[in-house]
Amino acid sequence: MRYPVSLWMKTQTLQKKNSLDKNIRTDVLVIGAGLAGILSAYMLKEKGIDCVVVERNRIMGGESGNTTAKITAQHGLIYSKLLSDLGTEKAKLYLKTNNDAVNRYEKLCRKIDCDFEKKDNFVYSINNRRKLQSELDALDKLGFSAEFQKELPLPMTVAGAVKFSNQAQFHPVKFASEIIRDLDIYENTPVKEISDSAVITPQGTIKADYIIVATHFPFINNHGAYFMKLYQHRSYVIALQNAKDYDGMYVDEKDTGMSFRNYKDFLLVGGGDHRTGKNGGNWRELRDFSKINYPGAAEKYFWAAQDCMSLDGVPYIGKYHKGSSKIYVATGFNKWGMTGSLVAAELLTNLVSSVKDEREELFSPSRSILKPQLFLNGIESVISFITPAKKRCPHLGCALRWNSAEHSWDCPCHGSRFDENGKLLDNPANGDLP
Ligand code: FES
Repeated sequence: MRYPVSLWMKTQTLQKKNSLDKNIRTDVLVIGAGLAGILSAYMLKEKGIDCVVVERNRIMGGESGNTTAKITAQHGLIYSKLLSDLGTEKAKLYLKTNNDAVNRYEKLCRKIDCDFEKKDNFVYSINNRRKLQSELDALDKLGFSAEFQKELPLPMTVAGAVKFSNQAQFHPVKFASEIIRDLDIYENTPVKEISDSAVITPQGTIKADYIIVATHFPFINNHGAYFMKLYQHRSYVIALQNAKDYDGMYVDEKDTGMSFRNYKDFLLVGGGDHRTGKNGGNWRELRDFSKINYPGAAEKYFWAAQDCMSLDGVPYIGKYHKGSSKIYVATGFNKWGMTGSLVAAELLTNLVSSVKDEREELFSPSRSILKPQLFLNGIESVISFITPAKKRCPHLGCALRWNSAEHSWDCPCHGSRFDENGKLLDNPANGDLP
């Protein structure tokens, strides 16, 4: 049986770091060595702030190593929604922040050999020209010049696309290999207990003035109600050789649509998405598509990712919960973890060093959760809770569903996953199946 491994993890080796074996003290402790965690540590260190990172498995071993690594401020057709839901000022700030993140990556990547390339990004629609136009109108109101693209070089007919010029793509693990070079990171060091000023790991306690939880899904369940604020999606990627070079990045505006980008002589085809614990196209859909459209191509790698989706499309970055002054969080990047991670690192660096940041309110994890998606998630949970099932989720008891593509037990309520032997793969559940 072939196991999924991303092209990124397969083509770059990361420096191994030891696990923690003593008690230590630091100014800031970051939990989680994905991109958000290591970039936070990198920026804190740049400011002269002492920082330690702990990771329960390997650096970049979670979603950051399983991305398609598109660096763009174009997060689907989000700006018409942000404009109507949050108003002009906040929508503008979201756009500016993400554009700045693209530029900051470019600067960082000048000194890092990570195959960084400027590329145009296209969000297309198969059949909804009107939706594209309302996004273009919204961007116009926000003072950003996006373009309408009538045709794309992709195998399917589209109603058109919104184009953002000068976005970027890179090799995320090559990038990470330089970012981590001088950081204090302890791998294979799971956190067992956490308080405001210390965390306990199997072989040592870490005392810290501030703690940043950058663990993809925040794992502290008794504060912050993240299981209500987030739901999770799975998405799938295959890397093909001898397919096409499209010289750009392309993504369907629909959650269940496809995406395309090239890396060297590979074409990365993404899609098959579904809410975790539900049915979807997975790799089968991508392989069927490739067979028809790239008959001479060979599949070299395949992998999957799990995305934490926020209720309003904006990540949660800031104080873990309203009353918390020492614990911070970065999560809910939706499907845009590259820019989300960099924005999180900048904002959290400012917050822990008491620098005023105009983005604090926009990304605040304590903002209102009264959104239509909360209601939809509630219905999903009730249905799953009363569904008879072979196995139930140890988080809140929903019915687990067998994911035959990935050989895992997945929970449709909040997205916990377990391997076929019951070992925990994804939070918010905090333990294995009984
Ligand atoms: Fe919450 Fe399963 S993840 S009940």
